[in-house]
Amino acid sequence: MPQFPERIALAPGLSISRLVCGLWQVADIEKDGRTIDPEQGADALQAYAKAGFDTFDMADHYGSAEIITGHLLRRYSAGSERPVAFTKWCPEPGPMTRDVVRRGVEERLVRLGVEKVDLLQFHWWTFEHPAWLDALHEMQAMKEEGLIGALGLTNFDAAHLGLALADGIEIASNQVSFSLIDRRAAGDLSALCQNKGVKLLAYGTLCGGFLSEKWLGKAEPETIPDWSRSKYKRFIDAAGGWAVYQGILAAAAEIARKHGVSVSNVASRWVLEHQAVAATIIGARLGENEHRDDNLKVFTFRLDEEDKTLLGNAFAASSPIPGDCGDEYRKPPFLTASGDLSHHLTAIPSVYTAAAVPGREDRMRVSSGSIWEPLAGYSRAVRVGERILVSGTTATHGSDRCVAPGDPGAQTTYILDKIAASIAALGGSMEDVVRTRIYLKDAAQWEPVSRAHGRFFSEILPANTLIQAGALIGDYEVEIEAEAVVTGK
Ligand SMILES: NC(=O)c1ccc[n+]([C@@H]2O[C@H](COP(=O)([O-])OP(=O)(O)OC[C@H]3O[C@@H](n4cnc5c(N)ncnc54)[C@H](OP(=O)(O)O)[C@@H]3O)[C@@H](O)[C@H]2O)c1
Repeated sequence: MPQFPERIALAPGLSISRLVCGLWQVADIEKDGRTIDPEQGADALQAYAKAGFDTFDMADHYGSAEIITGHLLRRYSAGSERPVAFTKWCPEPGPMTRDVVRRGVEERLVRLGVEKVDLLQFHWWTFEHPAWLDALHEMQAMKEEGLIGALGLTNFDAAHLGLALADGIEIASNQVSFSLIDRRAAGDLSALCQNKGVKLLAYGTLCGGFLSEKWLGKAEPETIPDWSRSKYKRFIDAAGGWAVYQGILAAAAEIARKHGVSVSNVASRWVLEHQAVAATIIGARLGENEHRDDNLKVFTFRLDEEDKTLLGNAFAASSPIPGDCGDEYRKPPFLTASGDLSHHLTAIPSVYTAAAVPGREDRMRVSSGSIWEPLAGYSRAVRVGERILVSGTTATHGSDRCVAPGDPGAQTTYILDKIAASIAALGGSMEDVVRTRIYLKDAAQWEPVSRAHGRFFSEILPANTLIQAGALIGDYEVEIEAEAVVTGK
């Protein structure tokens, strides 16, 4: 039996435990308004750290978790080895000016009482709002200034991680849900991460505790008191329901008996054995329960082919969780604790403002702020009655910056987000799109563009044309126009 969890280098100079101690549960414990005494909380964290579980994961909204960890870090003298603190910044969508970003990051530094955040992870609620790229570029500048050690993302799908990388952001990690129940991260995201050297940090690996002996053969609960299990019960329902989950649990239990370990060990091991995964984050209910000794057994065995076949058979009875990683925060069905975003946001603002066309009561239009819209005389999109017509759209960020130069797939993702935002501002949605036309600079690049288009439209299936345009201006690799019909809206 190993004495400590395995370690891995997440980024140059950043050695972490492969079992990260997750502190979202602090917010649940504190939800009645009483906060954990920070010194007592720090004592609990110090016990984890002494046992080699010395890497802690937090966020701006995890109750007083950052404060408690700050109290822990203060116990280590300057220059000595101290525990590693990951946190997250999850701002409301809106303009990400230099000031807004610096205030958000500086608040993390103050609450943690550090001069540098070891890993700062960024979450964004809607990719239709393009300011997430401004936030990442500003954070990258703060990393270069030494205020951020490594830059991470959380709940980014493969397409938007790819877009961030293609736009020049150095990303160390992406923290996503990954478990025997939610296997989305094993797909495109893992492939991209391996290809680009980005590490995955997996959460929800124990589904809030549902992936343990405690629930084997048990009846479906009618009420669930804590946020974490409420959330993962939604994942269980989306994966096919209680019987399907019990099938996966039974397979894990059989494997656990064979190796002399626990069901939770099998659940963690299965995730950790994916090449792209650096670590799993296991939630800790400070002052209530701790499972360190059991979790250490994750490093005493490996899953063999027979185990993988057993799990594969149980998976075959389940439904894949819809969409890609992070969609649970951006689209219905919201697989969050409350089943919507009410714990997090009051509203998602529209990116563009629709303006009435003077003297034409049946018309509305939006501008995306490109310098060319007033100069050349066009709108990003125009609504005429029930039709919305979106101009040929390129990956222009703000007034004139070309995003992801040289990467047509990433540019397509950015363009389609922009098209979605302009249609939304005019009262429609991507589901209303009946036609797209794609103009491509280099016909040899049709595949990444078609795949990015497929990610948005594989179920909507608009009529589509793809044309080699010969040449597009500047670094633009692709330009797309769209038409939607919003019957009855
Ligand atoms: N980026 C994001 O959007 C995001 C979202 C969710 C979570 N997270 C991170 O991930 C962390 C993990 O939290 P989670 O909500 O996903 O929960 P989780 O890690 O799937 O489950 C944690 C629960 O599992 C139980 N447990 C742990 N070890 C066990 C063992 N060996 N045997 C039996 N039961 C065991 C404990 O339940 P009991 O205490 O009841 O025994 C514990 O509270 C969070 O704290 C947070 O840091 C991030």
